Amino acid sequence: MHTDPAQIRAFFAARAADWETRYPDDAPAYRAGVAELDLREGQAVLDAGCGTGRAMPFLREGVGASGVVLGADLTPEMLAAAARAGRGAYGGLLLADCARLPLRDDALDAVFAAGLIGHLPDPRACLRELARVTRNGGRLALFHPIGRAALAARQGRELTSDDLRAEPNLGPLLESSGWTLTSYTDTDEGFLAMASAKAEAGADTDA
Ligand SMILES: C[S@@+](CC[C@H](N)C(=O)[O-])C[C@H]1O[C@@H](n2cnc3c(N)ncnc32)[C@H](O)[C@@H]1O
Repeated sequence: MHTDPAQIRAFFAARAADWETRYPDDAPAYRAGVAELDLREGQAVLDAGCGTGRAMPFLREGVGASGVVLGADLTPEMLAAAARAGRGAYGGLLLADCARLPLRDDALDAVFAAGLIGHLPDPRACLRELARVTRNGGRLALFHPIGRAALAARQGRELTSDDLRAEPNLGPLLESSGWTLTSYTDTDEGFLAMASAKAEAGADTDA
C-alpha cells in the first residue's frame, strides 16, 4: 500500500511505458465493465485513475459524440502514455488527484475506476470526492480485469479478510462515502462493484 501521492506517482511512472503491453488481452473485459454503467448519449463520464486511458474508447462509445469523457490521473507519465496511444481523441486527459477534482458538484453521470481504490492512501476521501462530482443516482463502477483471488496469487500474496475490496468491507466504505453498493461480482474473470450516488443528507428533495 502506498502512503502518499509521490510514492504512487513513482510506482506508476516506472510502469507507464509498457503498461498496456503487460496486459494485452484485457480490452473485452474493459468493454464489458463499461457496459455495466449503462451510459446514454450525451452523458458525462469520468475515468478515475485512467492510466493510459484503456477504457476511454468504450466510455466514448457509451456517451456518443455529444457526451463528455474525462480521464483523470495523478501520474504524468501515465497521461503521456495515454496521449501517445491516441486516447486524447476520446476525451480530455486531466492531471488530477481523484481526491481533489477540478469539477463542480454533480457534474458527472457516471464514474469508471479500474484498478484505482487498492492504491489509495485514503480511499474514503477519494470516494467522497467522486460522490461530490456525481449527480444523485449517478453510477460508479469499481472494476478490475481479474478477480481479487487471482490478483493476489499473481502478486504472490494472501487474500486476507481485511482486503478493502472484500464485500463486507467495501459495502460500508461506500455507504460512508456517499454511495450505495448495488451489485458485487468477484470471480477469476474479473471484479466489478457497482454503486449508486446517494442524495446528500439534508439536500433539497423537491417532489
Ligand atoms: C492500476 S493503475 C490502473 C490504470 C487504468 N485505470 C487501467 O485500468 O489500465 C492505477 C492508476 O491510478 C492512478 N492513481 C492512483 N492514485 C490516484 C489518485 N489519487 N488520483 C488519480 N489517479 C490516481 C495511478 O497513477 C495509475 O495510473
